[in-house]
Amino acid sequence: MGWFSTFINSSIGKKLIMALTGLLLIIFLIIHLLGNLTLFAGADAFNTYAGTLKKFEPIVRVIEVLLTIIFVLHIYNGAVLWWTNRKAKGSLYAVNARSKETNIFARTTIQTGSIIFIFLVIHLQTFWYPSNFSGGEINLYGLVTGWFAQPVYSGFYIFAMILLGFHLNHGFQSAFQTFGWNHKKYFPLIQKIGTLYAILTALLFASIPVYFLFFHGGN
Ligand code: HEM
Repeated sequence: MGWFSTFINSSIGKKLIMALTGLLLIIFLIIHLLGNLTLFAGADAFNTYAGTLKKFEPIVRVIEVLLTIIFVLHIYNGAVLWWTNRKAKGSLYAVNARSKETNIFARTTIQTGSIIFIFLVIHLQTFWYPSNFSGGEINLYGLVTGWFAQPVYSGFYIFAMILLGFHLNHGFQSAFQTFGWNHKKYFPLIQKIGTLYAILTALLFASIPVYFLFFHGGN
């Protein structure tokens, strides 16, 4: 196992973990978004969707444990890489470290990531926790739309989703680059797909609080 822990703690090992966990989170977000879009179809549709998830509770629990591990690895490694890079900026490698990060999306991953982390804590506390620990049946549609009727709560969601778009725009292409898929001919296409994914994910997630705050009268 010696070689494994050496690899995991190396810079390239950490980058590979970032890329792998990032791609898994990208897939999770697509599935989570598709489920959440049933909110637009009304209480019955969304509660039926949530009820179906409850029927597969053991599987959902396993996925949640895996998701927790994936999030922890992603956040921990991201913070360590950012810190190492920050220290390098003050050293001989300063020029190198800076020249690799050219655009605003790349330079702000730690800030956007930190706010997404705060978002996630609030999100789990307001939706996931009551959904799983309130004891007995819960009208999840009522809970979600009730929160989104509050301007400050919805405003923070919309803000966090814009930052999520920034984070994903860099993360998507960065993951592929780490895997070595940076062929001159195909990489621009990967970048375009990444930007499209980031914009669609941010817009569609944000459209939910926007709709329930401005266009939906009552539950
Ligand atoms: C408008 C946007 C969103 C809505 C309406 C929404 C809704 C929900 C709801 C209702 C739950 C509880 C499900 C249950 O336990 O029965 C949940 C769980 C969760 N959400 Fe979200 N979500 C949104 C955006 C996000 C984003 C952007 C992320 C990640 C950055 C995220 C990550 C999670 C995680 C990790 C869980 C716990 C695992 C799970 O139960 O699927 N959510 N969400």
